[in-house]
Amino acid sequence: MEIIIQPSAEAATSVAARVIARLLREKPDAVIGLATGSTPLLLYRELIRMKLDWRKVTTFNLDEYVGLPKEHPQSYHSFMWENLLGHINIAKKNVHIPDGNTNDIPKFCAKYEKQIRAAGGIDLQVLGIGTDGHIGFNEPTSSLASRTRIKTLTQRTVQDNARFFGSEDKVPHHVITMGIGTIMEARQNLLLAFGPKKARAIAEAVEGPITSVNPASVLQMHPVTKVCLDEEAAAQLQRADYYRWVFDNKPGWQKI
Ligand code: F6R
Repeated sequence: MEIIIQPSAEAATSVAARVIARLLREKPDAVIGLATGSTPLLLYRELIRMKLDWRKVTTFNLDEYVGLPKEHPQSYHSFMWENLLGHINIAKKNVHIPDGNTNDIPKFCAKYEKQIRAAGGIDLQVLGIGTDGHIGFNEPTSSLASRTRIKTLTQRTVQDNARFFGSEDKVPHHVITMGIGTIMEARQNLLLAFGPKKARAIAEAVEGPITSVNPASVLQMHPVTKVCLDEEAAAQLQRADYYRWVFDNKPGWQKI
């Protein structure tokens, strides 16, 4: 894991945006995995501002609520079109977001995995992290080998996401999410986390044991994972000074 600590969420986002911009320049037909939630909002704003060429890019979103109509303002379909896809020159046929209204969830999930494989696999997966360490909606104790499937949100995640829905009882309990095994097959992972509420989950994921109790900790086994943090999300890291020193002393060819 490469831990990149920046003074603010804006600065950490700018590093992440540069990583994505470089990939799109080097591989115009890249396959990008996308996340939703508060964390990537700044990133999507920055990517729109950069006016990159998305014509040949394919995207796969991590997850979607089950049973929420696509048009619902809090569906991840609405989120993605409103915050990124509607503002870039991506081809609609290249956009993939799990269908939370499918009438055959296992069949849909198997097809989603097949579509990712057929696209050549994910080159770069954008990730946020839950306060409980979830990535995608792989909640604590998810199988570290899991594939795209239905999951039940923890009560903590339901509480965390109530801010989007106005109240807890409006948050769907079920989601379709890429599995941890699916995420681990991405060639590169880019995890972003900002604010004090993420500090504990980040410290456990980066410096704790690899355990399904903090699903993000499995990223320690991934060969190319960058973790872009603001100071607040990095606050509980024991080796923060070392990570800063590494970033500040990268050889020229490795600079972001
Ligand atoms: C969203 C997703 C989740 C979020 C996580 C953090 O597609 O997969 O893992 O990244 O719940 O959410 P925010 O960014 O709202 O704190």
